[in-house]
Amino acid sequence: MDVIEELEARYVMNTYGRKEDRNLFLVKGEGCRVWDNRGRVYLDFVGGLAVNLLGHCHPDVVEAICSQSRELIHASNLYYTRPQAELARVLVDHSAGDRVFFANSGAEANEAAIKLARKYHFPERHKIITALSSFHGRTLATVTATGQQKYQQGYAPLPEGFSYALFNDLSSFERLLDRETAAIMIEPVQGEGGIHVAHSSFIQGLRKICDRTGVLLIFDEVQCGLGRTGKLWAYEQWGAAPDIFTTAKGLGGGMPIGVMLARLEVADAFKPGDHASTFGGNPVTCRAALAVLDILLEGSFLIQVQRKGEYFMTGLRRLASIFSDLIGEIRGLGFMAALELAEPLAGQAQQSCQEKGLLVNAIGDRILRFLPPLIATEADLEQALATLEQVLAELA
Ligand SMILES: Cc1ncc(COP(=O)(O)O)c(C=O)c1O
Repeated sequence: MDVIEELEARYVMNTYGRKEDRNLFLVKGEGCRVWDNRGRVYLDFVGGLAVNLLGHCHPDVVEAICSQSRELIHASNLYYTRPQAELARVLVDHSAGDRVFFANSGAEANEAAIKLARKYHFPERHKIITALSSFHGRTLATVTATGQQKYQQGYAPLPEGFSYALFNDLSSFERLLDRETAAIMIEPVQGEGGIHVAHSSFIQGLRKICDRTGVLLIFDEVQCGLGRTGKLWAYEQWGAAPDIFTTAKGLGGGMPIGVMLARLEVADAFKPGDHASTFGGNPVTCRAALAVLDILLEGSFLIQVQRKGEYFMTGLRRLASIFSDLIGEIRGLGFMAALELAEPLAGQAQQSCQEKGLLVNAIGDRILRFLPPLIATEADLEQALATLEQVLAELA
């Protein structure tokens, strides 16, 4: 470990502050569990920050990656490849989108969405309204779309044309609209901002505003999409379809992928040469994504996620009633949950969970975020709740 620490300190840019995580060094993962270099096992409720939808090293994903790697690992987007076309078909068949653009990350998918919205409305409209507390990525445009100043500091001048309204407050969005507004972009469930779930009147209201004004509605489902809320797409919860939407994180079963989908008339604004990605739609990644979607779309998989999600939320609410002085609020939907502490103890709670064999993610100094793999069983959820109970009892 000391050697790894030394190599990191010497050669890797210091953007992650790993030391604060007390040097956990992971070497292996299987299902909902990971192992560190000392052989300690952890129940992983960080889930690669929503990437490990099917847990670690799911055998179907491993098989898809291995078999495609033996055939064709990469080909330029100058050429056709089967996995990309097949993945596009599955995504379109099961969503509000008609066409797919393949990228490699959430930020890239959102960057593509912003470019498409501007291209569609070019040259009349270019402005994008997003929500405060949102998170859309770290490229210059997506970090500007992100409604949190702390991520933007030091990068001025930022791209023009972004403004921020209050999440779940329709009139705040309406106030910012003008004739140059090209799109409204929101996460139906805000992730990095602390797990804030949209109200159905808010989502449906935004849809109506967009229908009335011709403004495009973009949903960023990078974190909340792909079954995490118990529906394949979070927007299905409210029955309001986007004009453009993005997803990434869990789609590749751990392989890097991001996708942007749009309805046909909007997608047609992109012509050959307007946008591109060297690695986007890579055959190995697309095969992994096909394996992931196969499982998500299987029979009752998502119904189980809803049921288990409710089970976990009920458990968290029970903890909130036991530790009412310590816990401010429980929020979430499906397998996307947050416990907000009344005191700035999230870092301490995260560390204490880790020492007891449970990985959770602290957001800021008050919020614990849980993003368990969707394959977590009731026994896994119980184990996490029991560990949390111990940790909260110590903190209290
Ligand atoms: C909602 C949302 N959008 C975009 C991103 C950026 O994704 P990536 O880190 O893959 O660029 C994230 C990452 O956390 C996210 O949660």
